Amino acid sequence: MKAAVTIDTGNSDVIQLREVPIPEIKSGWVLIKVMAFGLNRSELFTRRGDSPGVKFPRIQGIECVGIVENDASKTYKKGQKVAAIMGGMGRFFNGGYAEYTLVPLEIVFPFESNLPWETLGAIPEMFQTVSGSLNQALEIERGESILIRGGTSSIGMLACQLAKAKGLTVISTTRKLDKKQSLIKNGADHVVIDDGDVKDQVRAIYPHGVNKVLELIGTRTLKDSLKCIAQKGMVCMTGILGNEWTMKDFSPMGDIPSLGRLTVYMGESKNLSKELLQEFIDEVEKETIKLNIDKTFRLDTVSEAHQYMEDNKAKGKIVVKI
Ligand SMILES: NC(=O)c1ccc[n+]([C@@H]2O[C@H](COP(=O)([O-])OP(=O)(O)OC[C@H]3O[C@@H](n4cnc5c(N)ncnc54)[C@H](OP(=O)(O)O)[C@@H]3O)[C@@H](O)[C@H]2O)c1
Repeated sequence: MKAAVTIDTGNSDVIQLREVPIPEIKSGWVLIKVMAFGLNRSELFTRRGDSPGVKFPRIQGIECVGIVENDASKTYKKGQKVAAIMGGMGRFFNGGYAEYTLVPLEIVFPFESNLPWETLGAIPEMFQTVSGSLNQALEIERGESILIRGGTSSIGMLACQLAKAKGLTVISTTRKLDKKQSLIKNGADHVVIDDGDVKDQVRAIYPHGVNKVLELIGTRTLKDSLKCIAQKGMVCMTGILGNEWTMKDFSPMGDIPSLGRLTVYMGESKNLSKELLQEFIDEVEKETIKLNIDKTFRLDTVSEAHQYMEDNKAKGKIVVKI
């Protein structure tokens, strides 16, 4: 089979198209014929060598959609449409950047859909992250206000749509004025231009602060996000777009307002259910949710797709179609 193999850590050119053997089926695992996969920021970090314990060469890819080729447990028939996410995929065992991938049964989610594969490829990890962050971590409720920090990211764009669908008022941020219209078009009620300090702009809209913050920039803006919440408000840090993993001088009793809440979301396949995934795919099929897919690449151009993501050129999800 053909696979985009990350031969070592480094720049995007370490991802190279290679001929490798199709993985052999083993007990408890499912062989999937990959049809498409979404690209994820974490794969960029893994490629650069920032994921502890990952050995190279490695076929990366923490998610994929495709059809079952062989299921050792016979849970799924050959031809069943499935998604697979996380659980060490593309890190501790080979992942989705290939024509076939062998994954543990417990990270496989069956679904039915007539959507094109490139659309389906954008869904699993993006949906799992947004749904988990909003519903399981932030416990969003109708009538609340939410600040989405890193609003133009694919996670931020979908979070805005799902929060709006649940009846929240959304403030989305971007660093770039020319992206304001795309945030409004996506459903944001307010757009704030983020120079690292947005608390005054947010409090000009909500003087008492917002109920919830989805923090996707990370440690660089976290303290400022905590200044944006209303009493008993909550910040969930789900992303690290700012590229800084640790924080200097964080003082819990100084930086978290009294009664304020701070949590993180680190989604796993166990945070997703096949019913939730199917419901979401149905919504996309009915066009009640509009996915922002920026660009589709091929397996022989995964290296270019990584560079495109690294250069922040995308205004939505990057997908690779086999
Ligand atoms: N916790 C989880 O389970 C989980 C799962 C998946 C993803 N994530 C995380 O969620 C975040 C979003 O992922 P994504 O794939 O949706 O990202 P993405 O679409 O690649 O995000 C691109 C946007 O990020 C913003 N950005 C890039 N570098 C930045 C910087 N240094 N400072 C501030 N903003 C910056 C840019 O917005 P502007 O130019 O408009 O400002 C750009 O449009 C990532 O950190 C990712 O690792 C977490």
